[in-house]
Amino acid sequence: MPLICLASPKGGVGKTSLAAALAAALRRCGRRVFAVDCDPQNALRLHLGLPITDTAGYLAQLAQRADWRACLRATPAGVELLPHGDADLRGRLAAAALLDAEPDLLAAPLRALLADPAAIVVADTPPGASVALPILAEQAAIMLVVLLADAGSTALLPDLESGRFLGQGTLAGLRAPRIGVVLNQVDRRSALSVAAADGVAGHLGPRLMGAVCRDEAMAEALAHQRPVGLHAPQSAAARDVEDLAAALLREIAPAAAAAPATLGWLRA
Ligand SMILES: Nc1ncnc2c1ncn2[C@@H]1O[C@H](COP(=O)(O)OP(=O)(O)O)[C@@H](O)[C@H]1O
Ligand SMILES: [Mg+2]
Repeated sequence: MPLICLASPKGGVGKTSLAAALAAALRRCGRRVFAVDCDPQNALRLHLGLPITDTAGYLAQLAQRADWRACLRATPAGVELLPHGDADLRGRLAAAALLDAEPDLLAAPLRALLADPAAIVVADTPPGASVALPILAEQAAIMLVVLLADAGSTALLPDLESGRFLGQGTLAGLRAPRIGVVLNQVDRRSALSVAAADGVAGHLGPRLMGAVCRDEAMAEALAHQRPVGLHAPQSAAARDVEDLAAALLREIAPAAAAAPATLGWLRA
């Protein structure tokens, strides 16, 4: 039922790693989980264990009027993935223009996935503004913004709080209260990292939904093409992701009953 949309004003902060880890952690909580990749980098599939040669996906094939259901993939992590698909620059621009003209090409698949009361949808996005972001924000139960515990991220807090990173219009005003933050790559041995994390935590209060430590296990997990909770379940990062998943469930899904996962209707 709820959509969790990962976003960030900056790239390389861990959105895709956390999207995969979070999706897998929610799956282990007994939820049916769909992951939707809206980033042309098409990397979420790698984190979730699809073969590197499997480059097909939905948004990259919008111009061909692809059937989104036919693009869904079961993954070894138990998460059902709608990959973005590989696209060259022209393909990306064409897909963005098409989505801008027909937002329902993404909004309708999201509505269909969210219609399942037992399902949770986790969406990954490219850094900063994108055509997909306001479409996702419209249906998102929470926009989960990933920040690093550093000075650059701290400086972005006013933009987050005002919702400005979603644009300047009504959407930003409507969605700003639903923005949560996760701090990634927090390093307790670094005075700067701890100071930045403390500052952000004090400033955001309950809107800080979680913090994930800097942990080599996150990078190793990608090398093994597994979410961190499957690759290194005892690692500090995996435990932090579990806490984040629990906090999100408390926040967004009190009414969504856990139900056994079935793939039946998708294949019908
Ligand atoms: N908690 C973490 N600890 C250590 N490395 C991390 C952590 N989170 C992400 N990384 C690494 O940071 C890099 C960027 O992560 P990625 O998920 O691709 O970011 P984004 O999707 O925001 O561009 C990757 O090399 C990833 O392995
Ligand atoms: Mg990414």
